[in-house]
Amino acid sequence: MKETFKNDVNEGLSKTSKTLPSKYFYDAIGDKIFIKIMHMPEYYLTRAEHEIFKTKTAAIINALNISKDSKFDIIELGAGDGTKTKLLLEDLVSKEYQFKYLPIDISKDALNHLKCSLSKEISSLEVETKQGDYFHVLDDLKSHKNKKIILFLGSNIGNMSDDEAKQFLEKLGNSIHKDDVILLGADLIKSEDIVLPAYSDDAGVTKSFNLNLLTRINSELEANFNINKFEHLATYTEDEGIARSFLVSKEKQEVEIKSLQKSFLFEANEKIHTEDSRKYNNQILENLLENTSLQISNKLTDSNNYFADYILTKK
Ligand code: AVI
Repeated sequence: MKETFKNDVNEGLSKTSKTLPSKYFYDAIGDKIFIKIMHMPEYYLTRAEHEIFKTKTAAIINALNISKDSKFDIIELGAGDGTKTKLLLEDLVSKEYQFKYLPIDISKDALNHLKCSLSKEISSLEVETKQGDYFHVLDDLKSHKNKKIILFLGSNIGNMSDDEAKQFLEKLGNSIHKDDVILLGADLIKSEDIVLPAYSDDAGVTKSFNLNLLTRINSELEANFNINKFEHLATYTEDEGIARSFLVSKEKQEVEIKSLQKSFLFEANEKIHTEDSRKYNNQILENLLENTSLQISNKLTDSNNYFADYILTKK
């Protein structure tokens, strides 16, 4: 892991347009800041998807095409704290469906917390956690005998480039069988006045989330980034539908990364691109699904039409 981190940082900072992969936001501190982000007034995504899970549970269950007579598995990719999923799990348990819940997450901490809270809140639920990169875990899913319901919520897909998302959806399609169902959470394209504040909040929580990437490089790769010399920048246009995050060097400076035995020069106002957060509509998702075995078979939205949970099935 450390070696990959080191190589990715080296590769990203050596480019003419510097980049750092957003997956490295999520260390123990980043996980905590992200929980704060999800509670921010400007970050409508979590509330909107929560509303779908709270008010449309019956429609979700209906779309899953499940029966009380046969067992199924609910597999959640990037489960996090599972707040939204718990609403669905509680309802399914109370209706006496027979199923197992398999949350998969890169963070061991997040999985331990989730397992612990589930054992208190829904004690009869069978839970099997799996730690790992969900891209790799998909291979193991193929051999599952029970019907699978795969949850990929929170618009996590939005942090992939369109090419990565295509590959991911293709792989996802190849890991499921005919009756399996995917529930895909996607933030919808909307105006700048709603999207932009979600990525540049007044309290500066997103700023600290972004800057934590440099703190992480400092502590894990022995670097000397002075985080006071970098600013957070978010951009978004409704036409493009992608919120982009950057760290901007406030002045010309040199940063040493000891574990790489290398220094990197930053010009004043030079940007490091740290994250893309794509927003969707049906057409964009259909384009991504074009060469996959998946199709959109249903779509549930919140009352503001900010967010959608798409139901995907085999073509
Ligand atoms: C995890 N992911 C869907 C978040 C998003 O909205 O793209 C990550 C995030 N980045 C800044 N704020 C939240």
